[in-house]
Amino acid sequence: MTDLLSYTISRFQEHFDEAPEKAAYAPGRVEILGNHTDYNGGYVMSAAIDKGTVLVGSLDEFDQISLLATDLNRNAEFNVNLFERDARSTWANYVLGVVQQLQRSDINVRGFKAAIHSIIPLGAGLSSSAALEVASAYLLKQLFPFELSKMDVALLCQRAENQFVGVSSGLLDQFSSVFGAPNHLMFLDCRTLENAQLRLPREDLSLVICDSLAKHSLVGGEYNTRRAECMAASAFFGKELLRDVTIDEFNARKSELPDNQRKRAQHVIEENERVLQARQALVAGDAKLLGELMTASHQSSRYLFENSVPELDFLVDTARELPGCLGARLTGGGWGGATINLVEDAFVDQFSAALSEKYFEHSGRRAPVFVSTISDGAHFVSVK
Ligand code: GLA
Repeated sequence: MTDLLSYTISRFQEHFDEAPEKAAYAPGRVEILGNHTDYNGGYVMSAAIDKGTVLVGSLDEFDQISLLATDLNRNAEFNVNLFERDARSTWANYVLGVVQQLQRSDINVRGFKAAIHSIIPLGAGLSSSAALEVASAYLLKQLFPFELSKMDVALLCQRAENQFVGVSSGLLDQFSSVFGAPNHLMFLDCRTLENAQLRLPREDLSLVICDSLAKHSLVGGEYNTRRAECMAASAFFGKELLRDVTIDEFNARKSELPDNQRKRAQHVIEENERVLQARQALVAGDAKLLGELMTASHQSSRYLFENSVPELDFLVDTARELPGCLGARLTGGGWGGATINLVEDAFVDQFSAALSEKYFEHSGRRAPVFVSTISDGAHFVSVK
């Protein structure tokens, strides 16, 4: 964190020729379970990872928003009173979307300068987008003080993504980035917003992330198509959201649904059930069950929701055969990105080396495999 911060500060100073006044940090996340359940009003389980995004910034007297993306070596300028989604600097849209939502909430955001630095692998399904939105909100909260609860910040950042960036995502990513808690998984009921922090079922378990390097991008059709299919399926059952359709109701009439809608709905309805079972498994200390639920979730993504890709299937199939692995699945939106593996500590090194090696033999690519400590959520950072 200190290195990340001092690097970002020095890039800010170099570019803007002054020192930043404030700084904020927000982490990426792994989705442990609850795949595409969030926008269906369902349940999710996640953890904040130890990779995140730092923003440092200060006020600008000329009503200008000046942004520097240090990791991309790009900068962009906008008028705070008049800006639109930028087709060239797509990274800036996550910040601008948050500015727009704050303005819509009658918060008087004026000009500012900011430097952004992220160490979350891009396109890995680890929520680099949400981390940027949430870190932006935490920076702006210090520059233009406002009172919003943590949940309201998460909801505001979700609206930024839905309305400005144009992805109809649910609340999982922004919630996880805001509410992350060291050593705890987070549970969220996306309808009632009830949430809880739960410890892993055993002390000797690690979360091992493997980035397939198959690029995933949500700013595109598949995600929104899946969402539309889910909505059509819930409408068929006369319900607002799939959360409200029970497995019995589904089974009684599933043959009347078009194929795609039937498969998407089955995935979501059963995945909600898996999250609730996982919650009980955590309370009961049942690591084996948690792992089995994760693997079942992947198979459901693969065959029912059809948001996996061969690279992810290979990684999951390989991981399952390795000693010490209790469960493996894709994490996040899908169509590329990373897998998350629940692995016994004693086997982590051996597991990581073998997974990386087998993927290399299979694909010719060196997939980054890393253990993530379950980390804290977004916070202000001192620039002194
Ligand atoms: C992406 C979205 C989330 C969620 C997951 C799938 O990460 O941003 O809202 O829908 O996909 O569970």
